[in-house]
Amino acid sequence: METYIKRQISLKVILNLLLITIVVLTVVFTNIGCNILVTRYKEEHKENEESEDVNFQEIISLPEPKIKGEMSLEEAIITRRSIRSFDEKELNLEQISQILWAAQGITDERGHRASPSAGALYPLELYIVKKDGAYHYIPEGHKLKMILKGDLRKKLKDACLGQQWIEEAPINIVITGIYERTTVKYGERGIRYVHLEAGHACQNILLQSISLGLGAVPVGAFHDREVQEILNLEEDNIPFFVIPIGYKK
Ligand SMILES: Cc1cc2nc3c(=O)[nH]c(=O)nc-3n(C[C@H](O)[C@H](O)[C@H](O)COP(=O)(O)O)c2cc1C
Repeated sequence: METYIKRQISLKVILNLLLITIVVLTVVFTNIGCNILVTRYKEEHKENEESEDVNFQEIISLPEPKIKGEMSLEEAIITRRSIRSFDEKELNLEQISQILWAAQGITDERGHRASPSAGALYPLELYIVKKDGAYHYIPEGHKLKMILKGDLRKKLKDACLGQQWIEEAPINIVITGIYERTTVKYGERGIRYVHLEAGHACQNILLQSISLGLGAVPVGAFHDREVQEILNLEEDNIPFFVIPIGYKK
């Protein structure tokens, strides 16, 4: 009888161990599978990014961002209000550099950025629309690449249902995102993650602008397709926010 019970117990132990092994292996292989998909996606799209440089126009190396500012985080939070009236005074490159860095700048040696990103997949892109043209922010090396020449602010204002502050502000930052970079790992839920990430980046832009003594407003009311056309964006690159920034009038 005793031997029978012992045998039953050891059978149960073996079965439990087997079950745990299956669960662990499933988790490991699912992760490996996801990583393979993510790597393949990145490799495929790297080729496209490199070929973009064929149309090279102008690359601007941005000044080093500062990691100490004039205003505390708490002061920036309490001061933040949406500003919709701007002086025409231009922003300098230091200010632009600081604001872009706060949103998507690389902040460690692994390549992680100022705003959190599900799976560190970084689906967001940032564009700047200012008097002389439109620029794409490149976090690697903290650079701006000119993508279009000429003042597109009036067109952007029209795409944003005529919101005057967009034409008035010396710069507008457009936050866009490519869902596939995240859905390749997380499926449909990745869409939610990309939206959440746009919120993170937007809030960093607003708080950094305030701490530099500037004003800004997050604009979500616009025709997606029109914004894409103005910036010459691919169909899968979806605009989430237009953020006019400048000195408060
Ligand atoms: C997702 C989102 C979309 C918004 N879209 C617009 C917009 O299209 N135009 C605008 O003037 N303000 C827009 N706002 C700003 C809100 O109107 C503003 O945050 C709100 O009135 C609260 O005021 P406060 O930002 O000064 O605290 C938007 C804000 C959010 C969060």
